[in-house]
Amino acid sequence: MEFKTNVVIFFLAGLSFSVCYDYKTVLQKSLLFYEAQRSGKLPADQKVKWRADSALNDKGIHGEDLTGGYYDAGDFVKFGFPMAFTATLLSWNILDHEKAYVKAGALEDGRKAIKWATDYLLKCHVGKNQLYGQVGLGELDHVSWTRPEDMTMERPAFMINASAPGSDLAAETAAAMAAASLVFKTANATYSALLLEHARQLFDFANDYRGKYSDSIADAKNFYPSSNYPDEIVWGAAWMYRATREQKYMKVVDELYPTIQYWDGFSWDDKKGGIDVLLADLTGDSKYLDKLKTFCEYAFNKQSRTPKGLIFYGESASLRSTNNVLLICLEAAQRGVNAESYRKESKKQLDYMLGDSGSSYVVGIGKNYPTHAHHRSSSCPDHPKPCGWTFFNSDLPNYHMVEGAIVGGPGANDTHVDTRKDAPHNEVACDFNASFQACIAILVELGY
Ligand SMILES: *[C@@H]1O[C@H](CO)[C@@H](O)[C@H](O)[C@H]1NC(C)=O
Ligand SMILES: *[C@@H]1O[C@H](CO)[C@@H](O)[C@H](O)[C@H]1NC(C)=O
Ligand SMILES: *[C@@H]1O[C@H](CO)[C@@H](O)[C@H](O)[C@H]1NC(C)=O
Ligand SMILES: *[C@@H]1O[C@H](CO)[C@@H](O)[C@H](O)[C@H]1NC(C)=O
Repeated sequence: MEFKTNVVIFFLAGLSFSVCYDYKTVLQKSLLFYEAQRSGKLPADQKVKWRADSALNDKGIHGEDLTGGYYDAGDFVKFGFPMAFTATLLSWNILDHEKAYVKAGALEDGRKAIKWATDYLLKCHVGKNQLYGQVGLGELDHVSWTRPEDMTMERPAFMINASAPGSDLAAETAAAMAAASLVFKTANATYSALLLEHARQLFDFANDYRGKYSDSIADAKNFYPSSNYPDEIVWGAAWMYRATREQKYMKVVDELYPTIQYWDGFSWDDKKGGIDVLLADLTGDSKYLDKLKTFCEYAFNKQSRTPKGLIFYGESASLRSTNNVLLICLEAAQRGVNAESYRKESKKQLDYMLGDSGSSYVVGIGKNYPTHAHHRSSSCPDHPKPCGWTFFNSDLPNYHMVEGAIVGGPGANDTHVDTRKDAPHNEVACDFNASFQACIAILVELGY
């Protein structure tokens, strides 16, 4: 009897392993999450209908219009640093894997997701050396549990400038605009040129006035503290070179590249893995591929794993870290570095997240997906019904589905409790999703 049960379980485990996920649908749906995160006046073609206009009074210290952009995660602060990184990542992915977006019928929505961020980032760049990097205060935002449409707390704006610099923020924003200028080059040449002009100024600002943005914007230090800025300057310079082919940007790369090192590979704070992929293409120098190989060999063979095989970097938003690494190694595979084994292992990891682990970590996709994501706007009922901490504390599922959002992820033992009270494992965020979506697009392009 016991033996038979084991056979059945073994058989089922084998079966569930061969489940095929519809990556194209995942990619199509993936862009809905960004719509759910939209701040400002929503357009007529908005598909996520449970959202409405919000934060229409977001302003700079001199009254500049700062409406628009994306709410960061489950909360409603607009943090410029991860938002710019998200825009860079989406632009990079669409540029290099446009075929996947065409195959999935998602190219238009992909471009719109980028433009929603870049339109806002353009507004934030109010002077040659002046860039707003945050609207809203973390602590003040986090004390209430409401819809963004009903927010009443104060939402001050914070900038970097020549006397309070932020090379990381300015260079990442330059990277986002340079990458987006390439995305829009044929679709709208005027917009593309506008983005590139701002990118040039922002890159010079980043390079000429050096410092960490989180030393200039104190509130950001509690949420997205930058560990350093040379990696963003190199990343920004590589993107400026890709967009302009002007040697002066390559000179900055050559000057600063030797000073930067891998920390966690690739994330909103660490651009090294992405730099190596980009420079491998731009220079043809094999040293960058060698670095990627060393990095990926470690990730796939030596990094710790959960009992079910997920490559694991830490309790907080574990899947974000895994996806960032998979993205870099899938890109390395595209450039001929151990292609077959990296792709096979990456697909296995992504399938774990879509359901092979026993439950899906992507809202609205697969079986047993999260219904209690730590995400304020979707947890609240429609206006004019009140929201508040009782909704946070209740055991009922979120009122709306923040479809396509990937939650933080499991703990070291593959454990995950679907509760709003566990933000480290069950919150959603723009940058989590961007790397996941980017990995999925590569699988679509490969025809998986
Ligand atoms: C997040 O990723 C998943 C999987 O690709 C997707 O379903 C979801 O819609 C994505 N959201 C965004 C904003 O990319
Ligand atoms: C420069 O930025 C700092 C930090 O955000 C701010 O306090 C200051 O008012 C800004 N200076 C100007 C001239 O806008
Ligand atoms: C192209 O971009 C410009 C500048 O942002 C904008 O004014 C114009 O409406 C855009 N054209 C189209 C066809 O979208
Ligand atoms: C994981 O499981 C092991 C063995 O049961 C246990 O010793 C360890 O404390 C668990 N770790 C976590 C983070 O729960």
